[in-house]
Amino acid sequence: MNLLNNKNILLGICGGIAAYKTPDLVRKLKAAGANVRVVLTESGKAFVSPLSLQAVSANPVSEDLLDPAAEAAMGHIELAKWADMVLIAPATANFMAKLSHGLADDLLSTLCLATAAPITIAPAMNQQMWHAIPTQQNLQTLKQRNIRVLGPAEGEQACGDIGAGRMFEPEQLVDALNQRMVEPVLAGKRILITAGPTQEAIDPVRYLSNHSSGKMGYALAQAAADLGARVCLVSGPTHIVAPAGCDVIQVKSAEQMYQAVMEHVADCDIFIGCAAVADYRVDEVMSQKIKKDNDKLSLTFVKNPDILASVAALPKPPFTLGFAAETQHVDQYAQGKLHNKKLNMIAANDVSDQSIGFNSNQNALTVYWADGQQCLPKNDKYTLACQLLTLLNQHHNNA
Ligand code: PMT
Repeated sequence: MNLLNNKNILLGICGGIAAYKTPDLVRKLKAAGANVRVVLTESGKAFVSPLSLQAVSANPVSEDLLDPAAEAAMGHIELAKWADMVLIAPATANFMAKLSHGLADDLLSTLCLATAAPITIAPAMNQQMWHAIPTQQNLQTLKQRNIRVLGPAEGEQACGDIGAGRMFEPEQLVDALNQRMVEPVLAGKRILITAGPTQEAIDPVRYLSNHSSGKMGYALAQAAADLGARVCLVSGPTHIVAPAGCDVIQVKSAEQMYQAVMEHVADCDIFIGCAAVADYRVDEVMSQKIKKDNDKLSLTFVKNPDILASVAALPKPPFTLGFAAETQHVDQYAQGKLHNKKLNMIAANDVSDQSIGFNSNQNALTVYWADGQQCLPKNDKYTLACQLLTLLNQHHNNA
Protein backbone atom coordinates (compact mmCIF):
# COMPACT_ATOMS: atom_id res chain seq x y z
CA MET A 1 0.00 0.00 0.00
CA ASN A 2 1.35 3.44 -0.86
CA LEU A 3 0.71 5.60 2.19
CA LEU A 4 2.97 8.43 0.97
CA ASN A 5 0.43 9.50 -1.62
CA ASN A 6 -0.49 13.17 -1.11
CA LYS A 7 1.61 13.38 2.05
CA ASN A 8 3.79 16.46 2.65
CA ILE A 9 7.41 15.50 3.22
CA LEU A 10 9.89 18.09 4.39
CA LEU A 11 13.34 16.85 3.37
CA GLY A 12 16.27 18.36 5.28
CA ILE A 13 19.65 17.88 3.63
CA CYS A 14 22.87 18.30 5.63
CA GLY A 15 26.45 18.52 4.43
CA GLY A 16 27.74 15.04 3.69
CA ILE A 17 28.85 13.26 0.54
CA ALA A 18 25.64 11.20 0.62
CA ALA A 19 23.77 14.42 -0.23
CA TYR A 20 24.53 13.67 -3.89
CA LYS A 21 21.84 10.97 -3.67
CA THR A 22 19.11 13.36 -2.57
CA PRO A 23 17.83 14.46 -6.02
CA ASP A 24 17.14 10.77 -6.64
CA LEU A 25 15.49 10.53 -3.21
CA VAL A 26 13.24 13.48 -4.07
CA ARG A 27 12.33 11.87 -7.39
CA LYS A 28 11.42 8.61 -5.69
CA LEU A 29 9.33 10.38 -3.02
CA LYS A 30 7.51 12.29 -5.79
CA ALA A 31 6.99 9.07 -7.73
CA ALA A 32 5.32 7.66 -4.58
CA GLY A 33 2.89 10.59 -4.74
CA ALA A 34 4.40 12.73 -1.96
CA ASN A 35 4.69 16.53 -2.06
CA VAL A 36 8.29 17.39 -1.28
CA ARG A 37 9.82 20.61 -0.01
CA VAL A 38 13.55 20.73 0.55
CA VAL A 39 15.49 22.56 3.25
CA LEU A 40 19.18 22.70 2.54
CA THR A 41 21.74 23.54 5.23
CA GLU A 42 24.71 25.79 4.48
CA SER A 43 27.10 22.84 4.26
CA GLY A 44 24.52 20.78 2.34
CA LYS A 45 24.86 23.35 -0.47
CA ALA A 46 28.50 22.32 -0.89
CA PHE A 47 27.38 18.85 -1.97
CA VAL A 48 24.18 19.36 -3.94
CA SER A 49 22.83 22.37 -5.76
CA PRO A 50 19.57 24.10 -4.78
CA LEU A 51 18.71 24.36 -8.46
CA SER A 52 18.77 20.58 -8.99
CA LEU A 53 16.60 20.06 -5.92
CA GLN A 54 14.17 22.75 -7.01
CA ALA A 55 13.90 21.14 -10.44
CA VAL A 56 13.16 17.65 -9.11
CA SER A 57 10.88 18.73 -6.25
CA ALA A 58 9.04 21.34 -8.35
CA ASN A 59 9.17 23.61 -5.28
CA PRO A 60 11.52 26.40 -4.19
CA VAL A 61 14.33 25.19 -1.92
CA SER A 62 14.52 26.86 1.50
CA GLU A 63 17.97 27.70 2.80
CA ASP A 64 18.02 30.60 5.25
CA LEU A 65 16.17 31.32 8.46
CA LEU A 66 16.57 35.04 7.99
CA ASP A 67 15.66 35.36 4.31
CA PRO A 68 12.76 37.87 4.05
CA ALA A 69 11.87 36.75 0.51
CA ALA A 70 11.61 33.09 1.52
CA GLU A 71 9.69 33.97 4.68
CA ALA A 72 7.23 36.00 2.59
CA ALA A 73 6.60 32.95 0.36
CA MET A 74 6.26 30.34 3.12
CA GLY A 75 7.47 31.28 6.59
CA HIS A 76 9.38 28.75 8.64
CA ILE A 77 6.46 28.17 11.01
CA GLU A 78 4.13 27.61 8.07
CA LEU A 79 6.66 25.18 6.61
CA ALA A 80 6.86 23.35 9.95
CA LYS A 81 3.05 23.09 10.02
CA TRP A 82 2.85 22.05 6.36
CA ALA A 83 4.90 18.88 6.95
CA ASP A 84 3.24 15.51 7.61
CA MET A 85 6.71 14.13 8.14
CA VAL A 86 10.24 15.51 8.36
CA LEU A 87 13.05 13.42 6.88
CA ILE A 88 16.64 14.49 7.39
CA ALA A 89 18.89 12.71 4.92
CA PRO A 90 21.79 12.72 5.19
CA ALA A 91 21.87 13.61 8.89
CA THR A 92 25.42 14.45 9.88
CA ALA A 93 27.00 13.94 13.32
CA ASN A 94 26.86 17.71 13.74
CA PHE A 95 23.16 17.89 12.93
CA MET A 96 22.38 14.98 15.28
CA ALA A 97 24.21 16.87 18.03
CA LYS A 98 22.22 20.04 17.30
CA LEU A 99 18.95 18.14 17.25
CA SER A 100 19.66 16.33 20.50
CA HIS A 101 20.49 19.62 22.23
CA GLY A 102 17.52 21.50 20.79
CA LEU A 103 19.59 24.14 18.99
CA ALA A 104 17.79 26.44 16.57
CA ASP A 105 20.60 28.30 14.85
CA ASP A 106 19.60 27.63 11.25
CA LEU A 107 16.42 26.97 9.29
CA LEU A 108 16.48 23.16 9.50
CA SER A 109 17.14 22.91 13.25
CA THR A 110 14.52 25.60 13.90
CA LEU A 111 11.96 23.71 11.82
CA CYS A 112 12.65 20.56 13.81
CA LEU A 113 11.74 22.38 17.02
CA ALA A 114 8.73 24.08 15.45
CA THR A 115 7.10 21.04 13.88
CA ALA A 116 4.60 18.61 15.39
CA ALA A 117 5.27 16.16 12.54
CA PRO A 118 7.25 12.98 13.24
CA ILE A 119 10.94 13.33 12.50
CA THR A 120 13.04 10.63 10.85
CA ILE A 121 16.80 10.86 10.36
CA ALA A 122 19.03 8.89 8.01
CA PRO A 123 22.53 9.31 9.48
CA ALA A 124 25.56 9.30 7.21
CA MET A 125 29.12 9.88 8.37
CA ASN A 126 32.54 8.31 8.76
CA GLN A 127 32.32 5.06 10.73
CA GLN A 128 34.59 6.36 13.49
CA MET A 129 32.38 9.43 13.90
CA TRP A 130 29.31 7.18 14.05
CA HIS A 131 30.81 5.05 16.82
CA ALA A 132 32.16 8.06 18.75
CA ILE A 133 30.66 8.24 22.25
CA PRO A 134 29.08 11.72 21.80
CA THR A 135 27.34 10.60 18.58
CA GLN A 136 26.06 7.44 20.22
CA GLN A 137 24.83 9.41 23.24
CA ASN A 138 23.07 11.88 20.97
CA LEU A 139 21.53 8.94 19.11
CA GLN A 140 20.11 7.54 22.37
CA THR A 141 18.67 10.95 23.25
CA LEU A 142 17.02 11.25 19.84
CA LYS A 143 15.54 7.76 20.07
CA GLN A 144 14.18 8.51 23.53
CA ARG A 145 12.42 11.51 22.00
CA ASN A 146 10.78 9.20 19.49
CA ILE A 147 12.86 10.42 16.55
CA ARG A 148 13.12 7.56 14.10
CA VAL A 149 16.52 6.52 12.89
CA LEU A 150 16.96 4.76 9.55
CA GLY A 151 20.38 3.24 9.20
CA PRO A 152 23.19 3.85 8.75
CA ALA A 153 24.11 0.94 6.50
CA GLU A 154 27.48 -0.75 6.66
CA GLY A 155 29.99 -0.94 3.82
CA GLU A 156 32.73 0.93 2.02
CA GLN A 157 32.72 4.65 2.69
CA ALA A 158 33.68 7.60 0.50
CA CYS A 159 36.76 8.16 2.71
CA GLY A 160 37.93 4.57 2.13
CA ASP A 161 36.95 3.27 5.58
CA ILE A 162 34.71 0.26 5.90
CA GLY A 163 31.98 0.15 8.53
CA ALA A 164 28.68 1.66 9.64
CA GLY A 165 27.97 5.14 8.31
CA ARG A 166 26.58 4.88 4.80
CA MET A 167 23.23 6.57 4.22
CA PHE A 168 20.40 4.18 3.40
CA GLU A 169 19.72 4.09 -0.35
CA PRO A 170 16.85 6.34 -1.56
CA GLU A 171 14.68 3.32 -2.34
CA GLN A 172 15.15 1.92 1.19
CA LEU A 173 14.31 5.31 2.69
CA VAL A 174 11.12 5.63 0.66
CA ASP A 175 10.06 2.09 1.61
CA ALA A 176 10.75 2.75 5.28
CA LEU A 177 8.89 6.09 5.24
CA ASN A 178 5.96 4.40 3.60
CA GLN A 179 5.93 1.91 6.47
CA ARG A 180 6.04 4.79 8.94
CA MET A 181 2.99 6.51 7.45
CA VAL A 182 1.08 3.84 9.22
CA GLU A 183 -2.59 3.53 9.89
CA PRO A 184 -3.28 2.47 13.50
CA VAL A 185 -4.42 -1.01 12.51
CA LEU A 186 -3.54 -2.41 15.95
CA ALA A 187 -5.50 0.22 17.89
CA GLY A 188 -7.33 -1.35 20.82
CA LYS A 189 -5.09 -4.44 20.86
CA ARG A 190 -2.77 -5.27 23.76
CA ILE A 191 0.47 -6.98 22.87
CA LEU A 192 2.98 -8.63 25.19
CA ILE A 193 6.44 -9.10 23.67
CA THR A 194 9.58 -10.78 24.99
CA ALA A 195 12.94 -9.58 23.67
CA GLY A 196 16.67 -9.94 24.12
CA PRO A 197 18.69 -12.72 25.73
CA THR A 198 18.41 -14.13 29.22
CA GLN A 199 21.36 -14.41 31.58
CA GLU A 200 21.63 -17.52 33.72
CA ALA A 201 23.95 -17.05 36.69
CA ILE A 202 26.71 -19.62 37.25
CA ASP A 203 28.39 -17.92 40.19
CA PRO A 204 28.50 -14.28 41.40
CA VAL A 205 30.71 -13.22 38.45
CA ARG A 206 29.73 -15.48 35.55
CA TYR A 207 26.63 -16.25 33.55
CA LEU A 208 25.40 -18.21 30.54
CA SER A 209 23.78 -16.22 27.75
CA ASN A 210 23.56 -15.87 23.94
CA HIS A 211 24.09 -13.35 21.15
CA SER A 212 20.63 -11.74 21.11
CA SER A 213 20.91 -7.94 21.14
CA GLY A 214 17.18 -7.30 21.58
CA LYS A 215 17.01 -5.35 18.30
CA MET A 216 14.33 -7.54 16.69
CA GLY A 217 12.08 -7.60 19.77
CA TYR A 218 12.49 -3.86 20.38
CA ALA A 219 11.71 -3.16 16.71
CA LEU A 220 8.54 -5.23 17.11
CA ALA A 221 7.58 -3.32 20.25
CA GLN A 222 8.20 0.04 18.56
CA ALA A 223 6.32 -0.97 15.41
CA ALA A 224 3.38 -2.35 17.43
CA ALA A 225 3.17 0.91 19.41
CA ASP A 226 3.38 2.92 16.18
CA LEU A 227 0.54 0.81 14.76
CA GLY A 228 -1.60 1.80 17.74
CA ALA A 229 -1.26 -1.22 20.06
CA ARG A 230 -0.75 -1.01 23.83
CA VAL A 231 2.59 -2.72 24.25
CA CYS A 232 4.22 -4.39 27.23
CA LEU A 233 7.81 -5.42 26.55
CA VAL A 234 9.52 -7.94 28.81
CA SER A 235 13.19 -7.57 28.07
CA GLY A 236 16.31 -9.46 28.99
CA PRO A 237 19.55 -7.44 29.40
CA THR A 238 20.27 -5.29 26.32
CA HIS A 239 22.18 -2.12 25.51
CA ILE A 240 19.41 -0.47 23.53
CA VAL A 241 17.05 2.30 24.51
CA ALA A 242 13.52 1.30 25.47
CA PRO A 243 11.09 1.97 22.64
CA ALA A 244 8.91 5.02 23.16
CA GLY A 245 5.31 4.50 24.22
CA CYS A 246 5.76 0.96 25.60
CA ASP A 247 5.69 -0.38 29.16
CA VAL A 248 9.02 -2.08 29.71
CA ILE A 249 9.81 -4.73 32.33
CA GLN A 250 13.50 -5.55 32.67
CA VAL A 251 14.48 -9.07 33.70
CA LYS A 252 17.66 -11.11 33.67
CA SER A 253 16.97 -14.84 33.85
CA ALA A 254 14.51 -17.11 32.05
CA GLU A 255 12.69 -17.73 35.33
CA GLN A 256 12.27 -13.97 35.89
CA MET A 257 11.04 -13.58 32.29
CA TYR A 258 8.58 -16.43 32.86
CA GLN A 259 7.25 -14.75 36.04
CA ALA A 260 6.89 -11.36 34.35
CA VAL A 261 5.08 -12.86 31.36
CA MET A 262 2.72 -14.89 33.54
CA GLU A 263 1.88 -11.78 35.58
CA HIS A 264 0.89 -9.80 32.48
CA VAL A 265 -0.38 -12.37 30.02
CA ALA A 266 -4.01 -12.15 31.19
CA ASP A 267 -4.01 -8.51 30.01
CA CYS A 268 -2.96 -9.23 26.44
CA ASP A 269 -4.65 -10.22 23.20
CA ILE A 270 -1.44 -11.16 21.41
CA PHE A 271 1.79 -12.68 22.74
CA ILE A 272 5.04 -12.53 20.73
CA GLY A 273 8.00 -14.57 21.97
CA CYS A 274 11.01 -12.97 20.34
CA ALA A 275 13.43 -13.42 23.25
CA ALA A 276 16.29 -15.86 22.96
CA VAL A 277 15.50 -17.59 26.24
CA ALA A 278 18.21 -19.88 27.61
CA ASP A 279 16.84 -23.40 27.44
CA TYR A 280 18.89 -24.44 30.47
CA ARG A 281 20.24 -22.90 33.68
CA VAL A 282 22.80 -24.37 36.07
CA ASP A 283 21.25 -26.62 38.66
CA GLU A 284 23.08 -24.98 41.54
CA VAL A 285 24.32 -21.38 41.35
CA MET A 286 27.57 -21.16 43.33
CA SER A 287 27.49 -18.59 46.12
CA GLN A 288 31.22 -17.86 45.68
CA LYS A 289 33.34 -17.42 42.56
CA ILE A 290 34.41 -20.81 41.14
CA LYS A 291 38.20 -21.17 41.41
CA LYS A 292 40.28 -22.67 38.60
CA ASP A 293 41.74 -25.44 40.75
CA ASN A 294 40.89 -28.26 38.34
CA ASP A 295 41.70 -28.83 34.64
CA LYS A 296 38.12 -29.76 33.94
CA LEU A 297 34.92 -28.31 35.28
CA SER A 298 31.51 -29.95 35.06
CA LEU A 299 28.28 -28.10 35.56
CA THR A 300 24.85 -29.69 35.70
CA PHE A 301 22.09 -27.91 33.85
CA VAL A 302 18.35 -28.11 34.34
CA LYS A 303 15.69 -27.10 31.87
CA ASN A 304 14.15 -23.64 32.09
CA PRO A 305 10.40 -23.22 31.76
CA ASP A 306 9.31 -22.79 28.15
CA ILE A 307 7.57 -19.40 28.32
CA LEU A 308 6.02 -19.50 24.86
CA ALA A 309 4.69 -23.05 25.24
CA SER A 310 3.30 -22.18 28.70
CA VAL A 311 1.45 -19.16 27.29
CA ALA A 312 0.01 -21.20 24.42
CA ALA A 313 -1.09 -23.91 26.90
CA LEU A 314 -3.13 -21.51 29.07
CA PRO A 315 -6.86 -22.28 29.24
CA LYS A 316 -7.61 -19.04 27.37
CA PRO A 317 -4.38 -18.33 25.49
CA PRO A 318 -3.76 -15.09 23.62
CA PHE A 319 -2.96 -15.27 19.91
CA THR A 320 0.64 -16.54 20.00
CA LEU A 321 3.51 -15.82 17.60
CA GLY A 322 6.81 -17.53 18.30
CA PHE A 323 10.22 -17.21 16.70
CA ALA A 324 12.48 -20.10 15.77
CA ALA A 325 16.18 -19.26 15.61
CA GLU A 326 17.86 -22.14 13.81
CA THR A 327 21.19 -22.84 12.14
CA GLN A 328 20.04 -25.82 10.05
CA HIS A 329 16.78 -27.41 8.82
CA VAL A 330 15.30 -24.00 9.62
CA ASP A 331 11.87 -24.49 8.07
CA GLN A 332 11.42 -28.04 9.33
CA TYR A 333 12.35 -27.13 12.92
CA ALA A 334 10.21 -23.98 12.84
CA GLN A 335 7.17 -25.92 11.67
CA GLY A 336 7.86 -28.51 14.38
CA LYS A 337 7.78 -25.76 17.03
CA LEU A 338 4.58 -24.30 15.56
CA HIS A 339 2.94 -27.68 15.95
CA ASN A 340 4.50 -28.90 19.24
CA LYS A 341 4.05 -25.62 21.11
CA LYS A 342 0.52 -25.20 19.67
CA LEU A 343 1.18 -21.69 18.35
CA ASN A 344 -0.90 -19.63 15.95
CA MET A 345 2.15 -18.52 13.97
CA ILE A 346 5.94 -18.88 13.97
CA ALA A 347 8.66 -16.78 12.34
CA ALA A 348 11.63 -18.87 11.19
CA ASN A 349 14.94 -17.05 11.55
CA ASP A 350 18.03 -18.51 9.87
CA VAL A 351 20.73 -17.41 12.32
CA SER A 352 23.48 -19.25 10.43
CA ASP A 353 23.49 -16.21 8.10
CA GLN A 354 25.40 -13.56 10.07
CA SER A 355 24.02 -10.69 7.99
CA ILE A 356 20.60 -11.34 9.56
CA GLY A 357 19.39 -12.54 12.94
CA PHE A 358 21.51 -12.05 16.04
CA ASN A 359 22.72 -8.49 16.59
CA SER A 360 22.49 -7.37 12.96
CA ASN A 361 20.34 -4.42 11.90
CA GLN A 362 18.61 -6.50 9.27
CA ASN A 363 16.64 -9.69 9.30
CA ALA A 364 14.67 -12.00 7.00
CA LEU A 365 11.90 -14.33 8.12
CA THR A 366 9.64 -17.07 6.84
CA VAL A 367 6.35 -17.05 8.72
CA TYR A 368 4.32 -20.25 9.09
CA TRP A 369 0.79 -20.87 10.31
CA ALA A 370 -1.38 -23.99 10.25
CA ASP A 371 -2.13 -23.95 6.53
CA GLY A 372 0.15 -21.39 4.97
CA GLN A 373 3.44 -19.57 4.92
CA GLN A 374 4.92 -16.28 3.74
CA CYS A 375 8.48 -15.08 3.20
CA LEU A 376 9.41 -11.63 4.49
CA PRO A 377 12.63 -10.86 2.59
CA LYS A 378 15.69 -9.16 4.06
CA ASN A 379 14.97 -5.70 5.38
CA ASP A 380 15.84 -3.49 8.34
CA LYS A 381 14.32 -4.88 11.53
CA TYR A 382 11.76 -2.08 11.98
CA THR A 383 10.37 -2.45 8.46
CA LEU A 384 10.30 -6.21 8.85
CA ALA A 385 8.54 -5.84 12.20
CA CYS A 386 5.83 -3.71 10.53
CA GLN A 387 5.37 -6.36 7.84
CA LEU A 388 5.24 -9.17 10.39
CA LEU A 389 2.69 -7.32 12.55
CA THR A 390 0.53 -6.55 9.52
CA LEU A 391 0.48 -10.25 8.64
CA LEU A 392 -0.16 -11.26 12.25
CA ASN A 393 -3.00 -8.75 12.50
CA GLN A 394 -4.75 -10.22 9.45
CA HIS A 395 -4.63 -13.67 11.07
CA HIS A 396 -5.65 -12.35 14.49
CA ASN A 397 -8.67 -10.61 12.95
CA ASN A 398 -9.69 -13.87 11.26
CA ALA A 399 -9.03 -16.07 14.32
O1 PMT B 1 17.83 -9.86 19.45
P1 PMT B 1 18.43 -9.78 18.06
O2 PMT B 1 19.93 -9.66 18.11
O3 PMT B 1 17.78 -8.74 17.21
O4 PMT B 1 18.16 -11.19 17.34
C1 PMT B 1 16.86 -11.58 17.04
C2 PMT B 1 16.62 -13.08 17.33
C3 PMT B 1 17.48 -13.93 16.42
C4 PMT B 1 16.93 -13.39 18.81
C5 PMT B 1 15.10 -13.33 17.08
O5 PMT B 1 14.77 -12.99 15.75
C6 PMT B 1 14.72 -14.77 17.30
O6 PMT B 1 14.82 -15.63 16.44
N1 PMT B 1 14.25 -15.07 18.55
C7 PMT B 1 13.97 -16.42 19.05
C8 PMT B 1 15.23 -17.00 19.61
C9 PMT B 1 15.04 -18.39 20.19
O7 PMT B 1 15.33 -18.58 21.33
O8 PMT B 1 14.52 -19.26 19.41
P2 PMT B 1 14.24 -20.81 19.84
O9 PMT B 1 14.04 -21.49 18.53
O10 PMT B 1 15.30 -21.34 20.74
O11 PMT B 1 12.90 -20.72 20.66
C10 PMT B 1 11.63 -20.88 20.05
C11 PMT B 1 10.63 -19.96 20.66
O12 PMT B 1 10.37 -20.34 22.01
C12 PMT B 1 11.03 -18.50 20.71
O13 PMT B 1 9.88 -17.74 20.45
C13 PMT B 1 11.50 -18.28 22.15
O14 PMT B 1 11.25 -16.96 22.60
C14 PMT B 1 10.60 -19.27 22.89
N2 PMT B 1 11.20 -19.84 24.11
C15 PMT B 1 12.28 -20.66 24.02
C16 PMT B 1 12.79 -21.25 25.17
C17 PMT B 1 12.15 -20.97 26.42
N3 PMT B 1 12.62 -21.50 27.54
N4 PMT B 1 11.10 -20.14 26.46
C18 PMT B 1 10.60 -19.59 25.34
O15 PMT B 1 9.63 -18.83 25.39
